[in-house]
Amino acid sequence: MNYKDKMLRDDALKDKTIVVTGGGSGLGKAMAAYFLELGANVVITSRNFEKLKTVQAELESQTGGSVLPVACDVRHYNEVEQVVLASIERFGKVDVLLNNAAGNFISPTERLSSNAFDTIIDIVLKGTKNCTLAFGKHWIEKKETNKTVLNIVTTYAWTGSAYVVPSATAKAGVLAMTRSLAVEWAKYGMRFNAIAPGPFPTKGAWDRLLPGDLKEKFDLAKKVPLQRVGDHQELANLAAYLVSDFSAYINGEVITIDGGEWLKGAGQFNLLEAVPEPMWDMLEAMIRSKKEK
Ligand code: HXC
Ligand code: NAP
Repeated sequence: MNYKDKMLRDDALKDKTIVVTGGGSGLGKAMAAYFLELGANVVITSRNFEKLKTVQAELESQTGGSVLPVACDVRHYNEVEQVVLASIERFGKVDVLLNNAAGNFISPTERLSSNAFDTIIDIVLKGTKNCTLAFGKHWIEKKETNKTVLNIVTTYAWTGSAYVVPSATAKAGVLAMTRSLAVEWAKYGMRFNAIAPGPFPTKGAWDRLLPGDLKEKFDLAKKVPLQRVGDHQELANLAAYLVSDFSAYINGEVITIDGGEWLKGAGQFNLLEAVPEPMWDMLEAMIRSKKEK
């Protein structure tokens, strides 16, 4: 066994319907594919319907599952409400909302127009709010229980990060929403959790965060104590567990899957990693000699 293997048993998500925003590309598509393999019906949404239809055909032939593609810009509440209606019409109910859609790009903040900042906040924070409110209200009104919302955030949701300030601001808000509703809406039978991925290469993220030769200049694997980037299947394994009934007692949690990346940046003396082994004899001797005096 290794981390690229599929973790849960075959029927782990049988009879569940899962809505994956941004499910037509990158990590959303990888998670959707695994949910289908585990027996779920999946609704994939994004702004690009043609892309979604292509991915629907690909995922259905790959997994034998059922995929409903629905065009929706998460920034518009009326479009999100249509996703609720279309999903119910096709599958009868929805059990899981996976808020995965996002927008991001690197930029010095002073170069951003007000609209550029708003665009990221609107996709990430307002989009997650729109989906959560539309599905949450539906579940409360119908008195349906055993529902799960899983939000994809980032590790800079709590550390903050220069050069992606709108994204950091929005993801911090999504994390606060996750923890707040985990308490408030537990009484309605909903669980709220989040995943904070470290670097998992996708075209969408890499084109906007590491354009041109930045990919070569900033090898993100080197920032990770485990010296590698993430594999899509290991993220899909974690997501499948968190939306399954096996995680029924996990609520209000954010699970980091980053090989230790953010802690490496945080620990004050982590830079001592650069000290070569033989030098430690000398350093130890220097420290001990101070005590003896
Ligand atoms: C400065 C920029 C810009 C840039 C766009 N804008 N790109 N400003 N630098 N590189 C400005 C525009 O000029 C405009 O402002 C405003 O932002 C909106 O741009 P539009 O192109 O009109 O918006 P839209 O078509 O809605 O596209 C949204 C987008 C785009 C976010 C700009 O990149 C997109 O569609 N992204 C979706 C996918 C994505 O971002 N995936 C990566 C997620 S990765 P003005 O003032 O001119 O009107 C992620 C990983 C985190 O989140 C952690 C990784 C380790
Ligand atoms: P991605 O492929 O670009 O995924 C973003 C998705 O969001 C796309 O499918 C996009 O589809 C959709 N989207 C963007 N704006 C939208 C809007 N207004 N309405 C509806 N859908 C919209 O990038 P990814 O790397 O897989 O990112 C997926 C998630 O993981 C994001 O939440 C991201 O912040 C998070 N994340 C990624 C990494 C990483 O290393 N890759 C690390 C930490 C967190 P359309 O363009 O077709 O609309």
